[in-house]
Amino acid sequence: MRQPSSIASKGCKRSTNVSPKTRVEQLREQIREHNHRYYVLDDPEIADAEYDQLLRELQELEAKHPELVSQDSPTMRVGAEPAKQFASVAHAMPMLSLNNCFSESELAEFDQRAQKGLETETLTYTAEPKLDGAALNLSYRNGQLERGATRGDGSHGEDITGNARTIRNLPLRLRGAGYPAFMEVRGEVVMPRSQFSELNKRLASKGEKNYVNPRNAAAGSLRQLDPKITADRPLYLYAYGVGAHADGDLPDSHFELLQTLRDWGLPVSDLVERVQGASGCQHYYEKMSARRDELDFEIDGCVYKIDSQAQRDELGFVARAPRWAIAHKFPAEEATTKIEQVEFQVGRTGALTPVARLKPVFVGGVTVSNATLHNMDEIQRKDVRVGDTVIVRRAGDVIPEVARVVVGKRPERTEPVTLPSHCPVCGSDVERVQGEAVARCTGGLICAAQRKEALKHFVSRRAMDIEGLGSKLIEQFVAEELLHTPVDIYALHEHREQLIEREGFGEQSIGNLLSSIENSKQTTLGRFLFALGIREIGETMANDLASHFSSLEAIQEVAVNYAEQIAELLKQEKTAEEIDKALKEDVLRQTPNIGPRVARNIASFFDDAGNREVIQKLLAADVEWPQESSKKSAAQHLSGKTFVLTGSLPDWTRDEAKARIEAAGGRVTSSVSSKTDYVVAGEAPGSKLAKAERLGVTVLDQNGLAALLADD
Ligand code: IVH
Repeated sequence: MRQPSSIASKGCKRSTNVSPKTRVEQLREQIREHNHRYYVLDDPEIADAEYDQLLRELQELEAKHPELVSQDSPTMRVGAEPAKQFASVAHAMPMLSLNNCFSESELAEFDQRAQKGLETETLTYTAEPKLDGAALNLSYRNGQLERGATRGDGSHGEDITGNARTIRNLPLRLRGAGYPAFMEVRGEVVMPRSQFSELNKRLASKGEKNYVNPRNAAAGSLRQLDPKITADRPLYLYAYGVGAHADGDLPDSHFELLQTLRDWGLPVSDLVERVQGASGCQHYYEKMSARRDELDFEIDGCVYKIDSQAQRDELGFVARAPRWAIAHKFPAEEATTKIEQVEFQVGRTGALTPVARLKPVFVGGVTVSNATLHNMDEIQRKDVRVGDTVIVRRAGDVIPEVARVVVGKRPERTEPVTLPSHCPVCGSDVERVQGEAVARCTGGLICAAQRKEALKHFVSRRAMDIEGLGSKLIEQFVAEELLHTPVDIYALHEHREQLIEREGFGEQSIGNLLSSIENSKQTTLGRFLFALGIREIGETMANDLASHFSSLEAIQEVAVNYAEQIAELLKQEKTAEEIDKALKEDVLRQTPNIGPRVARNIASFFDDAGNREVIQKLLAADVEWPQESSKKSAAQHLSGKTFVLTGSLPDWTRDEAKARIEAAGGRVTSSVSSKTDYVVAGEAPGSKLAKAERLGVTVLDQNGLAALLADD
């Protein structure tokens, strides 16, 4: 029971001799202080009833004097009108993900790599719990909460400011002083386990669907269009870092940064510690594993981050994850159940994936009734049969898998699982390339399953981002023959009348769907390439291709040319290996990160007349992106050159310098070797400068770099 204190009682008295404006300010100040004590310091000084009384007094005054209402008033947590849909907003700095490790030895490898990159021995880390919730990016301008956004695809998220404001322990305004004029605070929104079960009970009693686990509940609650619903959900924020910031300094040490965020009123987990080296991290991990079950928040591992910002800058990133941090995940959870059936699912590229239909079992916080068996080799290796008792494993949000069979419990007369000779969906032949684990349906776009998956991929958030065209709708449209290829999506407006007749599909939802289809036409080359669903071309590779070649025509030309050369070499009866070797110097193969297999996939995609026709029709339907053509001829002149940055440059941040080099086609790496072309040294350079000098690598200052960048 919280005890009222003398300070609090004083706060509750109504002052009769002050102006409403002064009283409103006094009340806001007191309420903020109590919120902070309650939610951040966990040290309340006032009873709930007294707190409510303060809040009510403030609400009454604001109602009576609307001119005194302000966005950062504690009464403003709930009140925003329901949104129709969330706007997409760019993060000032991308929100990255983390690489994972699952063992002490993988942790040691990560630490070794970091040590090598920094040429340092023992590294200092900040160790944190990895909270299992939803990521949130909060922008504060002059200390006021300006915006809250979901992580989205890492560069753009959804504007959920109205919902973020309802999170109980999230400050609408920062405390104290010294914070940057602009700052993105990054954190995780979680739902306590106990309150999660209560929420599910409440939902069930209203006949609404339950959430499967606290993480889904947190993410789902954050994305409610009506902030009043979010306000009713038990959500809590824990800040774990800062993204972009301007006009103000932050401590170099991450650990100190977290303490500073706490001083500014942001809730930070009190499980955070500063540790030394991989052994310090491992020790922390063991401690957290032991405490895990007693915490009211779910954690799925620990995160170790190099403590010094300068060292982080030096290490940089690979693709979407930093080299200076890693998530150490708790082991997967396992449970025993029975296989009732094995079925084959057909994916976007025709790959047949065997799936075990299971007797439902509760594992890792969710009920699992399907588990992947990966491919035929895996089935044979594990000798999985229908009727078997199996161990099912689930790690975090990874798809559950059948780990192994309990052979002793196998019933009599079971048969090994065999690969179907025909596609279970379209009946086309199933083909298995010698030496490859994957079997594929040869039906291509004839196969409804492949069509569906290709369409789902095309509309997905990171591809063309067509909101409102979800999996269910695509499945129905494909079944009704409304959709065959992505081109048909852009002709859906012609079927407006037919769509309106559908059950549960009113004017408004049609309008929303058609306008998000229309909006998707303005895209980027990288998204478009990703959306095409070329085998093994993920988002990063698609963006790399886009920035390397700058135009679709250029990629297409290079790809078709590569395909023609393969065809020629095949005629000469060359083996696959010989072909890969012969084409090593081809433009396509000289593209960074593109090996023989990916090159082959790109070539065979663009060599297919059907695919080229789909592309032409999409362009004819006005799908377009800003041209990057000038970039290639003029600015790609540093292609193939490797740079290492050390020390701080007078005018450019490290990220800016890196971006400029990359825009000109260069690559920035973290350690100096004889292969490095240039070392760019600023003030206080590290040992990298000495190494560059020793190896005879050209050293540039900022002016030298600027001259090189301009010199095309
Ligand atoms: S740091 C570049 N710290 O885990 C660093 N992330 O893949 C990016 N998460 O969705 C994240 N607890 O929201 C960081 N203490 C913690 C975290 C944490 C949970 C989430 C994060 C992101 C995912 C990282």
